[in-house]
Amino acid sequence: MQPMIVDHPLIQHKISLLRNKRTGTKEFRDLVSEIAMLLCYEATRDLPTEEVEIETPVAMAKTKVLAGRKLALVPILRAGMGMLDGMLSLIPAAKVGFIGLYRDEKTLQPVEYFCKLPTDIAERDVLVLDPMLATGGSATDAITQIKKHGAKKIKFIGLIAAPEGIAALHKAHPDVDIFVAALDDHLNENGYIVPGLGDAGDRIYGTK
Ligand code: PRP
Ligand code: URA
Repeated sequence: MQPMIVDHPLIQHKISLLRNKRTGTKEFRDLVSEIAMLLCYEATRDLPTEEVEIETPVAMAKTKVLAGRKLALVPILRAGMGMLDGMLSLIPAAKVGFIGLYRDEKTLQPVEYFCKLPTDIAERDVLVLDPMLATGGSATDAITQIKKHGAKKIKFIGLIAAPEGIAALHKAHPDVDIFVAALDDHLNENGYIVPGLGDAGDRIYGTK
């Protein structure tokens, strides 16, 4: 599947606010959460449903409910945590795992420092969360790790991607569907997405 660029007007508006360097920490955090919720709506569009019969105050009705597919959310620390609450507000029954990775500033290679996944992750559809898909190294490593634990159906949900990140992730994991709110132009010499929004973790947590 081609990467899904979810460019709904509400999302585009919120992404523009995120990009603005004058947007402060609290507003930035709120926006990340709101956009994650809107992306969740799109990324769960293919969840199976089943027909049930219920009684409304007026009549009997045949209607649909989720068919009980089990989900897991895996934010990549730190910045992916900013997306978690927004996603959980739509799928509160999802289990949550965590993968801690940071990019070495010189090599741009991801360094893993933490991994805690639900014990039954192999039976769950997994949504991996990270606002930024830059070189794609962090998302690729996180998904490799999740696959080692047995998960088979995995989607990546991000806010802003560079073409380089999309290509790298797709090459390493062609079975993983990618949902992002914006596809930017390129990476600069420091591996930052241009125009991007800067360092997502620092802007969510007010560090630096
Ligand atoms: C950022 C971002 C991704 C990664 C993307 O995390 O949240 O995890 O960079 O870059 P890549 O696609 O080139 O791997 P960072 O390493 O800054 O860690 P942080 O979330 O703890 O700030
Ligand atoms: N990580 C970020 O937080 N921002 C970028 O532009 C690239 C990687």
